Amino acid sequence: MTNVPNIILVGPMGAGKTTIGRLLSQSLAREFYDSDKVIEENAGADIPWIFDKEGEEGFRKRETCTLVQMLNHQDDRIVLATGGGIVTRDENRKLLCDSNALVVYLYASVAQQLHRTSKSNHRPLLQNGNPKATLKKLFQVRDPLYREVANVIVETDSRHPKSVANKALDAI
Ligand code: S3P
Repeated sequence: MTNVPNIILVGPMGAGKTTIGRLLSQSLAREFYDSDKVIEENAGADIPWIFDKEGEEGFRKRETCTLVQMLNHQDDRIVLATGGGIVTRDENRKLLCDSNALVVYLYASVAQQLHRTSKSNHRPLLQNGNPKATLKKLFQVRDPLYREVANVIVETDSRHPKSVANKALDAI
């Protein structure tokens, strides 16, 4: 499997990008990175702090830098889980499309997104207002954008994480 390209997971909050990314990295014996974690390490601060101090725009700038950093990764090929909003910038979508990475869109319905994010409190976009309405609104905008960059779409609502990972592996 040495000729397998970088694998980049995109999809909404609660799609399971981190869980599936870890499983894929184990199966492929690859390094796993989570762009949100890399942003936090680079900033020396967590995502809620970045949103609070720099706004969403500041976070998005950091996210683009991290994507470039990850795509230029010099070591072995990697598995990268991205944040749900990575596709909102034209620049990021171009980077994803122009890379030779296999981009996997992990699809989850709004109901599942809500269910899977309900216990976390580290997602600034879901802290104020009605999370269901927010997820629905974001998804209307972003679903076509995930599809635009994806080479493969894997539905996650009805699948166990291992089965989602296997589906993604089938596409390689
Ligand atoms: C965001 C998703 C989050 C994180 C940030 C913004 C978004 O990542 O990047 O809170 O805009 O959808 P996850 O998709 O890993 O929750």
